[in-house]
Amino acid sequence: CGIVGYAGENSAASVIIESLKKLEYRGYDSAGITVLGSGLDTYKSVGKIVNLEAVLPKGIGGNLGIGHTRWATHGRPSTENAHPHNSGNPCKISVVHNGIIENYMALKEKLTAEGYEFKSETDTEVIAHLLHKHIYEKPNGTEAKCELLTGLREALKEIEGSYALAILCADEPDKLVLARKDSPLVIGLGKGENFAASDVTAFLNSTRDVIFVDDFDTAILTPSSVEIFDREGNVKEKKIEKIEWDFEAAEKAGYEHFMLKEIHEQVSAIHNTLAGKVSELEGTIDLKELNMSEEEIRKLSRVQILACGTSWHAGLLGKYLFEQLAGIHCDIDICSEYRYRSPVMNDGTLAIAITQSGETADTLAAVREIMSYNCPTLAITNVVGSTITREANSVLYTIAGPEIGVAATKTFSTQLILLYLLAVKFALARGKLSPDYVKRFITAIRKVPGQIQQILNQKEAIKECAENFANSKSYFFLGRHLNYPIALEGALKLKEISYLHAEGFAAGELKHGPIALLEKGTPVITIATRGQTYDKVLSNIKEVKARDAIVIAVADNTDTEIGKYADIVLTVPRSDELLSPLLSVVVLQLLAYYTALARGCSIDKPRNLAKSVTVE
Ligand code: G6P
Repeated sequence: CGIVGYAGENSAASVIIESLKKLEYRGYDSAGITVLGSGLDTYKSVGKIVNLEAVLPKGIGGNLGIGHTRWATHGRPSTENAHPHNSGNPCKISVVHNGIIENYMALKEKLTAEGYEFKSETDTEVIAHLLHKHIYEKPNGTEAKCELLTGLREALKEIEGSYALAILCADEPDKLVLARKDSPLVIGLGKGENFAASDVTAFLNSTRDVIFVDDFDTAILTPSSVEIFDREGNVKEKKIEKIEWDFEAAEKAGYEHFMLKEIHEQVSAIHNTLAGKVSELEGTIDLKELNMSEEEIRKLSRVQILACGTSWHAGLLGKYLFEQLAGIHCDIDICSEYRYRSPVMNDGTLAIAITQSGETADTLAAVREIMSYNCPTLAITNVVGSTITREANSVLYTIAGPEIGVAATKTFSTQLILLYLLAVKFALARGKLSPDYVKRFITAIRKVPGQIQQILNQKEAIKECAENFANSKSYFFLGRHLNYPIALEGALKLKEISYLHAEGFAAGELKHGPIALLEKGTPVITIATRGQTYDKVLSNIKEVKARDAIVIAVADNTDTEIGKYADIVLTVPRSDELLSPLLSVVVLQLLAYYTALARGCSIDKPRNLAKSVTVE
């Protein structure tokens, strides 16, 4: 999850260990370093950085090195899967990587056929061997045919995906080579020493002069020089910037809270979760880890979703999707209820357990209950190696990266992404959707990260709205159909971090009770994006207005009508109705965030709440 590199006069191992400790806040499950001494020496361990320190030889020399803290995505947490990954015997190339190589399976097959031996399950090891191949031609080749940087440029042409890379080559002992695409990478400039890292916190104690590396750039770092090159290999002049942030601000990449950072990270988290799973050209959805044949998908008679909290809201939207798109009967239960309610099981059920942490005690208990009926179980989680991944029959991962804020944001939207993909895949297998429809769906879902970015660019309007209502006694959230779960989630987010009373309702239920609660000035957030229930929602808005409550509508930016009825309109880009919940929720997350900010609440660690609840 974090990379570091060092070239200087001090002990590379000590500098790198200190840098890795500074990156601990990002979350990790294993760590490793390579130091260039007489050769390339690599040390790795599972768990905390102190475990890595324990395996380092005393007084370890070497002034050039790379290090890594890993947060598992491809392959469980283990020493073999920890970075650096090496190639050659004796070792010639050592690589640390942050990002995801999307075509690693194809590259791995090719390299294996050419004689390269893989020791890990990671996508990163492919880079080490691919580089070796370009430089030394064969797995046992020892004579370099080209320089590291030239070999790297060739290797990168074959790689699809995102990367921040720091690389050492035994035959070029004077330098460290870097590359970046779609993963952060920054160089720190010291006196007689230079640094590289995924974020500035790694070296902020040593220097505040930095160069941010751009996508497709490569760089050479020595103790006394930094050279940056563009995609064609031309030398590039880059501005040196001064970091004014203190350590705490730098951890959050300049955002005031992890939650705000994580709301912004939804753009890349969704992109990464989709990566390698959808083919726009072929209109196919590839979920290898699902381990189900088309025949098995066709035979399903029911899906049973099990989850708690925010993950339950994701599951509720999942129910709508499985039934509407794939025509599969779907039940959803809150886990703490499911485990005690004597459920009736039928053949052909697939259980889907959704849990960002993979550790929620109620969810694990519900999974054990349903598995005792021999029901196949699929887990959706963000944490590789978590308990649920060891118990469920198969696992699909959200690739959201570590989420530190207690209130779930990017794990929620990426859970939704996987549920969309599952529902569409099931629909395709069951002949409910045509390949052409699926192609259009893939085009549309790929646009979501860009559309979320547009919402983020207009966050000031949401902030202003939040500030105006931050002292309200209570808040209501209304939504229909696919936006009903989003209304529930919006209310939960607000409760969790602002401590305001908030309730979410299916808008049609308003008349059956909740309407009695409306008073003059009560803010009622109503999700009113265009879709099959739009007119009904407009009627609800009128009912609310008639009670002198205030309507804050979340609507499409093309909607010219809504302003006639709502007091305040917060817009989202016009999108496919099916996917609009992914946009509406971002507005509600920001609204909760700015309300809590205006009220001076402890946003990342709200009172009485925990990120993972491992007790019943
Ligand atoms: C806790 C968290 C919530 C989360 C819920 C379920 O209550 O504070 O944000 O939604 O647990 O967690 P899970 O890890 O199972 O998704």
